Formats: sequence, C-alpha cells, structure tokens
Amino acid sequence: METNQNRQVDGVIPATSMAEPATAGGSQSSTLDERMVTMSGLQTKGIHAWFGDHHVLEDVSLDFPANTVTGLIGPSGCGKSTFLRMLNRMHEFIPSASMAGEVFLDGEEIYAPDVDVAAIRLRVGMVFQKPNPFPSMTIAENVLAGTKLANIKVKDKDSLLEECLTRAGLWKEVKDRLKLSGASLSGGQQQRLCIARALAVKPTVLLMDEPCSALDPGSTLKIEDTIHELSDLITVVIVTHNMQQAARVSDYCAFFLSDGHPGRVIEADRTDIVFTSPQDQRTADYVQGRFG
Ligand SMILES: Nc1ncnc2c1ncn2[C@@H]1O[C@H](COP(=O)(O)OP(=O)(O)OP(=O)(O)O)[C@@H](O)[C@H]1O
Ligand SMILES: [Mg+2]
Repeated sequence: METNQNRQVDGVIPATSMAEPATAGGSQSSTLDERMVTMSGLQTKGIHAWFGDHHVLEDVSLDFPANTVTGLIGPSGCGKSTFLRMLNRMHEFIPSASMAGEVFLDGEEIYAPDVDVAAIRLRVGMVFQKPNPFPSMTIAENVLAGTKLANIKVKDKDSLLEECLTRAGLWKEVKDRLKLSGASLSGGQQQRLCIARALAVKPTVLLMDEPCSALDPGSTLKIEDTIHELSDLITVVIVTHNMQQAARVSDYCAFFLSDGHPGRVIEADRTDIVFTSPQDQRTADYVQGRFG
C-alpha cells in the first residue's frame, strides 16, 4: 500500500500555499482570543491527496475553530469526502491512497510518527451518509459499541446512554425500548442513533458526510437541531449538498471545486459572507444553484 508515501516529500506544497489557513475568521482579522480558541480546534495545512497518480486534492489549508460548525460544499467529485477522511486518518487505509500536508488537532499533528491512530479516531468521530447501526445489536448496545471496542471503562452505563441519546435528540423517542434492535428504528432515528454512538466515546470533533441526504425533511431538521446543540461542546465539520442546510447549520463554509484540476478550496469564510457576499464569482454561482 502506498499509504502516506508522499507525506515527507519536501516541496510538494506549491508556492501558492496560503500563508495563513483560510477559515473561519476568513477575511476578518482575528483577535488573540479567537486565535487561542482556534488552537483548540482542528487545522489543516497544505493538504494534498492522491489515489494512485490521480491528484484529487490540492493545497487545502483550513481552520476549524473549536465549538463551531463548518460546512464543506462543492460539486460531486471535488474531494469533500476525501478531505473529511484525512481529518481522522481514514484516507490512508484506502488502497492506492496517499497524501501530503499536516492536520493539527488541539495543536498536535495527527500524522506525527508516534501518534496512535485508534486514539485519533476516538477524538475525531465520524457519521456517514447512510445510517449504519449494527443490526444485531440493541439500541443500547449500539450506543455503547464504541466504548466496548476501545476498551473504555464506563462506570455508569445508564447515565452515559441517557446523556448520548439526549444529546443526539433521540432519548425521548427510545427511552422505553432500549433493548429493541437498532434496526427497528426509522432512518432518521437510526442516523441519530449513529450520532449517539459517535458521541459515547467523547470525541472533540465530529465529522459528518452528508448525514441527512437519505432522510426526510422532518428528520433532517431534527439532526440540524442536534448539530446546533453539539457545537456547544464539540467541533463539527459537515459535508452537505443542501445549500439551505449549509446556511442553516454552519458558522463557516468552505467551497471546494475541481473543474479539471485537483479539488481545492475556492473560498472559506463565515457562512453569511459565503452566501451573501462571496469574493469569488464561482462561489456565488454555486451557492445560487447555477452549477453543480
Ligand atoms: N477509493 C477511491 N479510489 C480511487 N479514487 C477515488 C476513491 N474515492 C474517491 N476517489 C476519487 O477522488 C475524487 C474525489 O472524490 P470524493 O468522494 O472525495 O468527492 P466528493 O466531493 O465527496 O463527491 P460527492 O459529493 O459525490 O460525494 C473523485 O475523482 C473520485 O473519483
Ligand atoms: Mg462525498
């Protein structure tokens, strides 16, 4: 496997690399306080990704300040999911995948040689497009599955269950049927169950790859409420094709585009700016639905 083969190569990052990561603070100048908050979030510097010799992401430097929600938007195939997988070290397990650049979690490089990958996955949780509860497990077992796999001792399982299901916005609907199969829930409930499962190992970052694309509007709004509440405590990065959702749920937005080149960030800023006064015409065209 070519995993990480390119990471150590000097000079892979083009000279056009942004001196400061795009963010979040975007065109605003950030105060010292904001910078301190930023250090406790997630940051990427000069990220590139390849599958074999197909260069799919180029020089992505982004900042995800702690306790914020960032939406990743852009047309199909521009590298959003690939980028997301690099934030919790899933990319390198895909055959033919390689990468360059750095990812900092609370100021620590997650690709440093001595880093425990399993520990990173606990700190950076992920929720996928299709709800994927373990079908042979009960609702309660599903929520606690990650703690069991990671050998995390839980003193009071009932409290943890209630806490995670409450934070995922599902407690009231399932509290009397915790012993039923996870598969007995509706699609929207299953997705909230997956969010509860991700929360049980106490991540500091939650990555969500189109978490509502298979759900009805009611379930979608419930998940968006959940995301709002989660961001009081954790950092959320969400990929979405739904512009209304990006506008409703995110504090910051990054617009990715590939159009004949490797995918790259065209613009990253506060969501209200990206939607109302973007710097780049391509961003304006995309958020107004003129392409993609
Ligand atoms: N496992 C893989 N092996 C080879 N190429 C891949 C693999 N996964 C993705 N790619 C390629 O990498 C590029 C980026 O794909 P990615 O899935 O990250 O895009 P995306 O922005 O998430 O698209 P979508 O909005 O359709 O989910 C595409 O050209 C895709 O074909
Ligand atoms: Mg994708």
